Amino acid sequence: MPHGTGQVPEVLHEHMSDLNHFLMVYRFGLAEINTKLDILAEELAHHGTGNPIEHIRPRLKTPASILAKARRIGCPLTYTDLRQRIRDIAGMRVVCGFVSDVYTVAEMLTRQPDVQLVLTKDYIEKPKPNGYRSLHLLVEIPVFMSDRMVSVPVEVQLRTVAMDFWASLEHKIYYKHSPQVPARLRDELTAAANDAARLDERMELLHREIHGGPAPVRP
Ligand code: GTP
Ligand code: MG
Repeated sequence: MPHGTGQVPEVLHEHMSDLNHFLMVYRFGLAEINTKLDILAEELAHHGTGNPIEHIRPRLKTPASILAKARRIGCPLTYTDLRQRIRDIAGMRVVCGFVSDVYTVAEMLTRQPDVQLVLTKDYIEKPKPNGYRSLHLLVEIPVFMSDRMVSVPVEVQLRTVAMDFWASLEHKIYYKHSPQVPARLRDELTAAANDAARLDERMELLHREIHGGPAPVRP
């Protein structure tokens, strides 16, 4: 197929339309979770202790990164396989003020009857060896289409501002040095993650001293 004619090849066009259709329900699932978090944030803002949610960031995996992940995990390129094996096509990052807020929001979200909690990975309780901390939830949310209901998986990553700060910069540094990060840099990053964890602990104590309140809720 010659390039530069300005015309999209017919076969590519077909694939794009399939792919957009495939991604559509993930967009809807993400919108549902987004609304739930908006409601929680707005309602909780009226409570005495303030809004536990600093901000939320929805993201849909791009076709390129779906393909890259499929290759990495050896997933066949059929929609059925992609649907089953790639569970983080729809992702939502929820950044909270305090560690206790992370667990409070997780609990409030997952106890809603239409939210099905499929998997919890608690990297706050058990940080990754590099120091990465966050609470990951895989949830399924029903999306009602014209003629059917689809259960859409959404990966929700909840973390504090300090955890988010570390993870964003670690990601940047990693990309720059990829694939080999010097050992000294890796150690520095882990040490910085520990500092961020200590900062979270101190802020949590201050928070509790000022507001009192119950011990953190764990999912
Ligand atoms: P993926 O195939 O990358 O989704 O990993 P996984 O299936 O093992 O899931 P895991 O829960 O470990 O991580 C999923 C996501 O968490 C990643 O895509 C990142 O967004 C984030 N994440 C996990 N580990 C790290 C880390 O060490 N650094 C940073 N910056 N982010 C991380
Ligand atoms: Mg992922």
